[in-house]
Amino acid sequence: MIVAIDGTAASGKGTLARRISARYGLAHLDTGLLYRAVGCLGVRNHVPLEDEDALAGLAEQMSLAEFDEAELRSDEAGANASIVAAHPKVRAALIAFQRRFVGHAGGAVLDGRDIGTVICPDADVKLWVDADVEERARRRHKELEMAGGHDSYETVLAKMRARDARDAGRTDAPMVKAADAHLIDTTEMTIEAAVERACEIIDRAVAQRNSSRS
Ligand code: CDP
Repeated sequence: MIVAIDGTAASGKGTLARRISARYGLAHLDTGLLYRAVGCLGVRNHVPLEDEDALAGLAEQMSLAEFDEAELRSDEAGANASIVAAHPKVRAALIAFQRRFVGHAGGAVLDGRDIGTVICPDADVKLWVDADVEERARRRHKELEMAGGHDSYETVLAKMRARDARDAGRTDAPMVKAADAHLIDTTEMTIEAAVERACEIIDRAVAQRNSSRS
């Protein structure tokens, strides 16, 4: 079974993907880490984030094992990821790795922005996870504060709006809900409620698939 989870920043899609992977025993790939890693490599190697060819070259050769998770998860790495993710050659360099992951024996959960539209258009279940931008900014602000960050709520909100606009506005693989994706709006949901909602959708899809096979 392949589960494709896409959605906006701080919507809860990463936590949902981890919980679903554990519940159904599926391998999990957070594809955002790939774009974050390309941005970090650019910074490390003093390659401007506008240099599409050089960044695509770095993306082709990189391995996630070279990175420290805290470095990849930083707020700056997220913003840089969204800049490098707009380059078609960078996206192309990361496709083969993601498609191989989809072939994982026993199935997989992938989360990102273009999983249901570009990476696995034939996924068994597609989820689109979203929440109001103010609520997402509140969540991110709280996370950053706990990690010792000093940005105000207003700054976090402005950065979140800028990232949403960049992700939705790019021409190659823009962030968009696939027509056949199920919406989970987490604005007023606990993570447990969101997981339960996702599992209902997955269980229904599995039951339908099994009944159409028999
Ligand atoms: O965790 P958060 O939602 O803040 O970010 P992420 O999922 O780690 O993604 C970071 C950035 O990578 C996004 O803002 C996108 O620009 C880009 N990305 C993408 O273009 N395609 C994907 N499949 C995953 C991430």
